[in-house]
Amino acid sequence: MADTTKTATLTIDGKTFDLPMHSPTAGPDVVDIRKLYGQAGVFTYDPGFTSTASCDSTITYIDGDAGILTHRGYPIDQLAGKSHYLEVCFLLLYGYLPKAEELEEFETTVTRHTMIHEQMHNFFRGFRRDAHPMATMVGVVGAMSAFYHDSTDISDERQREIASFRLIAKMPTIAAMAYKYSIGQPFVYPRNDLDYAANFLHMCFSVPAEEYQVDPILARAMDRIFTLHADHEQNASTSTVRLASSSGANPFACVAAGIACLWGPAHGGANQACLEMLKEIGTVDQIPEYIARAKDKNDPFRLMGFGHRVYKNTDPRAKVLKQSADEVLDLLGVEDNKLLQVAKELERIALEDEYFVEKKLFPNVDFYSGIILEAMGFPTSMFTPIFALSRTVGWVSQWKEQLSDPQMKIGRPRQLYQGADLRDYVDIENR
Ligand code: SDX
Repeated sequence: MADTTKTATLTIDGKTFDLPMHSPTAGPDVVDIRKLYGQAGVFTYDPGFTSTASCDSTITYIDGDAGILTHRGYPIDQLAGKSHYLEVCFLLLYGYLPKAEELEEFETTVTRHTMIHEQMHNFFRGFRRDAHPMATMVGVVGAMSAFYHDSTDISDERQREIASFRLIAKMPTIAAMAYKYSIGQPFVYPRNDLDYAANFLHMCFSVPAEEYQVDPILARAMDRIFTLHADHEQNASTSTVRLASSSGANPFACVAAGIACLWGPAHGGANQACLEMLKEIGTVDQIPEYIARAKDKNDPFRLMGFGHRVYKNTDPRAKVLKQSADEVLDLLGVEDNKLLQVAKELERIALEDEYFVEKKLFPNVDFYSGIILEAMGFPTSMFTPIFALSRTVGWVSQWKEQLSDPQMKIGRPRQLYQGADLRDYVDIENR
């Protein structure tokens, strides 16, 4: 726990209560309210947890006002530019940048876990062909608990490590199989001669009927998308994984809960929703109408891909993705990509409009990722599965950190009860 130097004083009905404060490595001080209810008989109230730290962590730090995101202290733009996804996975899991031989051993281990139990193929055939791939992923990842019994004992450090490898390694295989199933093509097995991103593209886009060469520039762009989505502090899906894990649930069940939470359009589902919005807008001249709708209090329409609970400056991931979008579209020769033109014009207008400036609504990570993924040939239904695949290492790293925290206890928030007061049952004949 961070050092406790200051104290906060709370006065309720003339009585004062001293609450210890903790100062972090970076970010705001926290007021420790763990003993508040016992001392003062009151709860704090913070729906959406906008002012609440749920845990202490050493993995990821976000400064929303400065637009800073670091993993174990390393800035995301440096990691996206100089590192690659499996090295970032090692960093998130173990807390330091690996030496060459450590990285090689880690990559070999992950590569050797990419196949799924052959019997799990049957799960996919139980779904309708038009099932959303996220529904398939929630189901199949949860079902991993029914296959990998030798890595579900969370009290065993080695089993926790094997479960981590299995989740990181098998998520691309499961996502690719969900995609292949939805388009009626045969499953493609992972290949150990391909790196993580190239393997995923190969499993998605190759067919048995002909050779498929992965374009190294697309593989690099894919790897960068994985890296930029790897972890993000205590976001909704990570908090879901932590809460599920606090009951002692096995890692596969916890990650399945995280996938379910990520699916929502306000969270990981925004990349799909953003692209569908750009398609609905269609052309640049339609933008003002949608900007007006986004500002209209009576219209539930939101500009998908804009705004963030924490970033009130640029989302540093969006800046990197914007560069990747240009590279990928240039490579694919889609200069006159209408969607990218609408996206860039929408961004320009939104960033000049006082509504968005005043509410600090900047493009977030989901704004450009969908454009890149569509250009690479993915249907919009695969955007959030790719986000889930990328975020698995974040969920697993945070899950491992929580389990190694001696302070860990089951998460059990309280409430501000506004319901009926105590009353007696009324028999139906007297109602
Ligand atoms: C992710 O938490 C994470 O770290 C998430 C994530 C991760 O890596 O895990 O970064 C991934 O989820 C990114 C966010 C993707 N979601 C979207 O792009 C969906 C569109 N964005 C909004 O739904 C919204 O911005 C949220 C949910 C992202 C953030 O909501 P907040 O901070 O709780 O803000 P809010 O909903 O309270 O809105 C504040 C104001 C409101 O106006 P007022 O009520 O104050 O008048 O801003 C307005 C909102 O109406 N507003 C928007 C808007 N987002 C907020 N208006 C138009 N378009 C938007 N996108």
